[in-house]
Amino acid sequence: MWSNILNHNRGSLKSVLTPRDKLLREGLVDLSSILRRYFRYGHHEAIITTIDMLGNANVAPMGVFLSNDYVVLRPYVSTRTYRNLTEVPEAVVNVTNDSVLFYKALYEKNSLRLRRARVVRVPIIDGPIDLYIECNVEKYFINNERATIYLKPLCVYEGPGSKIAFSRANSLLIEVLVYLTKISARVLDVNEVKDRIECFLSIIERLGSEELILIAKSIRSKLTLKDLRN
Ligand SMILES: Cc1cc2nc3c(=O)[nH]c(=O)nc-3n(C[C@H](O)[C@H](O)[C@H](O)COP(=O)(O)O)c2cc1C
Repeated sequence: MWSNILNHNRGSLKSVLTPRDKLLREGLVDLSSILRRYFRYGHHEAIITTIDMLGNANVAPMGVFLSNDYVVLRPYVSTRTYRNLTEVPEAVVNVTNDSVLFYKALYEKNSLRLRRARVVRVPIIDGPIDLYIECNVEKYFINNERATIYLKPLCVYEGPGSKIAFSRANSLLIEVLVYLTKISARVLDVNEVKDRIECFLSIIERLGSEELILIAKSIRSKLTLKDLRN
């Protein structure tokens, strides 16, 4: 299958290559190994862009992993991401290490700039993205309230990059966001995890930048108000 994608790249995608496309050029040799390198620790997190049938864009953080040659997502069927993928079976997997981008994808969606992708109708995030993976939906299954969606990568290229050294505050913010979304989806009860979230927030406030400290404070007030809608 990769050879199909590689041939596809050599053919119709060739016209969209620019000199900056170091990774895509490598990808012409072995796209599969680029994805295996980026997703080498098993389950990863990314920001998925999708559109509905009217062309309205949506961004949302989602877990992703590789299975054979596919990028796999497991959205709850209640999410807009799932609904959009059933309406327009295309997505962009925006890979980044920047936790603030994940926060904005949840709570400040309108602050994210989007721009045209190369081969799919879905836009990409114009920001500190390490890798863009433009995909279409190859197949999907539903199991209870969750879908398993197999995305076929069509075009893979480097973004400006998140360019960040390992940061505990950065990682813990992602952890807190996962808890918050589970609480708002009623997968978790706030009382079960409130202490853990408080502990993570206090580490973020101790080790994080001013920007992260402000975000931690805003999360703390959401928790107090139990207003975790996004
Ligand atoms: C790091 C991270 C990973 C997430 N992974 C998933 C996931 O795999 N599946 C899912 O349904 N929701 C996941 N969520 C929660 C969704 O992002 C959240 O429910 C969001 O509101 C869905 O947005 P949407 O309705 O616009 O698609 C994750 C959240 C975070 C912060």
